[in-house]
Amino acid sequence: MSGSHLPNPDHPGAGKRIFATADIGSHAFDLLRNLGYQVEVYPQLSPPSEELIRAKVATGIDALITTLRDPITAAVIAAGAGTLQVIAQDSVGVDNIDRAAASRYRIPFTNTPGVLTGATAEFALFMMGAVARRLWSSERLVRENHWGAWHPHHPFLGDEVSGRTVAVIGMGRIGRAFLQKCLGLDMNVLCYARRPVEESYLQSVRELMALRHRAGWVREPRTIRQVDLRTALAEADFVSLHLPLVHGVGPDSTYHLINAERLSWMKPTAYLINTARGPVVDEEALVKALREHKLAGAALDVFVTEPLPADSPLRDSELEDRTRLFHHFGSGARQTRLSLDPQLGMAGRCLEGLRDVLEARHGGNPANMPWVVNKEAFRQG
Ligand code: GLV
Repeated sequence: MSGSHLPNPDHPGAGKRIFATADIGSHAFDLLRNLGYQVEVYPQLSPPSEELIRAKVATGIDALITTLRDPITAAVIAAGAGTLQVIAQDSVGVDNIDRAAASRYRIPFTNTPGVLTGATAEFALFMMGAVARRLWSSERLVRENHWGAWHPHHPFLGDEVSGRTVAVIGMGRIGRAFLQKCLGLDMNVLCYARRPVEESYLQSVRELMALRHRAGWVREPRTIRQVDLRTALAEADFVSLHLPLVHGVGPDSTYHLINAERLSWMKPTAYLINTARGPVVDEEALVKALREHKLAGAALDVFVTEPLPADSPLRDSELEDRTRLFHHFGSGARQTRLSLDPQLGMAGRCLEGLRDVLEARHGGNPANMPWVVNKEAFRQG
């Protein structure tokens, strides 16, 4: 046997082509090229069109590196039938990928859970502070030179976050990390999740709350309660969303989970924080609730349409002081986005997912490939 057809362990990527729809960091591409992969990176900052991605896939590439802004539709996936081996998504959310089509064509796709948990949770915490303590209004006052004099309550006041009640909607990795950060602010916690949270988790939170109380860090002991959605929304001072976007009408659907009716359950003094996905909230209903002062404010990092359109009513200057708007920046911290360490960075985890599949690592067994989302894509027959 000549051995020329055996994979070269130093260059497992030899002969394989990858198209990346965005620059996930030059070190990531250097690493792939050093492994023998041919890598083409879409050079613009704005995303390639669906047609362009489809055309690239149709040239017979082995792998796609994608981000949450790319429409990985059934047509894109069909163009890779028999050639495309993996779609490695550089985010945890995968609602832009047609899972049914990918699995039908037996194309696995991977994501980057875990490494952006802390960054997104802390961003949600800071958003909560920004909107309630009016960081924007305060800074603008200084920058625009309208800071008249220090005054006990003019021209405005904010609302405290510490010691208030937060509702955590969705108790996956990011929801829990956010909740845990709220404990540092001695908040009371209401949690809502479709599937019940384990008692052992609630118990550890209670122990931590009790410890802070015993240490004298907080006057009253704090509480955590697992409640239904209505109670969570009705009793909270802050409602923070941590759910994936699931379309459809079934019980797992999260599309417009926060609609006009549910917004009406919230207190007029409460704030809504969304770092999950835009369509989880009915934006029109939210704007109406804000305009009618049925809600104190909102801090949003995600929108139905991204980038946020110039004519979005969320930009209404009347709402500006009570509405913080960010550019889907929750995971936008240097190490989180760019580190090649798969335990730390999205780029690193994205490459791990890609290489696990392309190089048939872990004995080619999908059960041992942690970042493959649609393991059903590996089925035989
Ligand atoms: C960010 O929104 C992500 O899904 O990674």
